[in-house]
Amino acid sequence: MVQEMEYVNLGPSGLKVSRLCLGTWFLPRLSEVDEYGVPKVDVDEFRRIMRRAVDEGLNFIDTANRYHGAQSPVDLNHVGNAERVLGKVLKDYDREMFVIVTKVCGRMAPWPNGAGLSRKHIMWQIKQSLQRLQTDYVDVYLTHVPDPSTPKLETLRALNDLVTRGLVHYIGSSNESPEGIVESMELAKLYNLHSYITIQERYNLLDREIEKTKVPIARHYGLAIMAYSPLAQGLLTPKYLKGVPELSRAKLTSWLGKYLTKDNLQVIRELNEIAKELDVTLPQLAIAWILHKEKELGVTIIPVVGVSKYEHFEDNLAALDVRLDEDTIEKIEAIAAKFRKPR
Ligand SMILES: NC(=O)c1ccc[n+]([C@@H]2O[C@H](COP(=O)([O-])OP(=O)(O)OC[C@H]3O[C@@H](n4cnc5c(N)ncnc54)[C@H](OP(=O)(O)O)[C@@H]3O)[C@@H](O)[C@H]2O)c1
Repeated sequence: MVQEMEYVNLGPSGLKVSRLCLGTWFLPRLSEVDEYGVPKVDVDEFRRIMRRAVDEGLNFIDTANRYHGAQSPVDLNHVGNAERVLGKVLKDYDREMFVIVTKVCGRMAPWPNGAGLSRKHIMWQIKQSLQRLQTDYVDVYLTHVPDPSTPKLETLRALNDLVTRGLVHYIGSSNESPEGIVESMELAKLYNLHSYITIQERYNLLDREIEKTKVPIARHYGLAIMAYSPLAQGLLTPKYLKGVPELSRAKLTSWLGKYLTKDNLQVIRELNEIAKELDVTLPQLAIAWILHKEKELGVTIIPVVGVSKYEHFEDNLAALDVRLDEDTIEKIEAIAAKFRKPR
């Protein structure tokens, strides 16, 4: 049990979100496969996780229109599944308890306007997301990736209209370039449109690129950062130290296994040893590191964690009670700096 869940305002808004956000890109899965050979999502296990999340006061949930829960990249037979599962599970609760984030841009249909950030695609996809989630509004709607083929002002005006119509309460972006974020913020100001309150970006002990690029922009505009892949997709856990477990992400995807070089595994082993010395787990150390950096960087950072088992969630929640001293921070950053991306 976490001592007491802390809530923070999401960027410049009055929206209160828990210190930890639960992601749904990958959900718990079964060994049973569907007619396409893709593992099925374990809805019961996800229900257990959501129950615990609610009991602990976690109110912040991240999804996207394209997510499936057990497949990535997602083919068009499987898009929308994570929103559907989440929608089903949310029925157990009062919708108003939650802050639900979803995203738009990725391909949802084969036709020319089946992807992107045009007004047409956004207007179609918000209706679809609301249906799948079985709700009448989304708290925070994010552009998932940039769409260079659509004028930014068209996207911002479409998002603004969604807010005005009450279908979306707040907006933000994900994976936009630093210049793109600035341009969007300035255009919104110039045209008096609703502007972003958050950006969702990859951030973890093994990938700190945004510290130099997007953190200064977030600080300038008061945007909150939703830090995705805080455990580097599972690399910052001990799971790969003894091989690649069945149904793990490195088994399910084509990319993660490439990081598991001898040298990188040594980095993870050393970090794991430090965690043991501190009597915490490696995932707890990695999440606590992000929460520590938030103070140092002077910007709100909320880790968006993914879990495929109830035990993972329990483990990760306990990170909220872990405090790291400066010596430890220095030590783990020096070790993590030896980690290399695959070529
Ligand atoms: N905006 C974007 O473009 C974007 C991109 C990526 C993610 N996201 C969002 O961010 C969320 C989190 O991303 P992520 O799933 O990559 O995050 P992550 O927290 O870095 O990795 C999650 C994976 O780590 C493993 N794991 C988690 N806790 C564990 C524990 N205590 N012990 C052992 N293993 C543990 C699980 O791997 P196994 O599944 O192998 O068991 C889990 O699926 C996503 O669900 C999604 O909502 C957004």
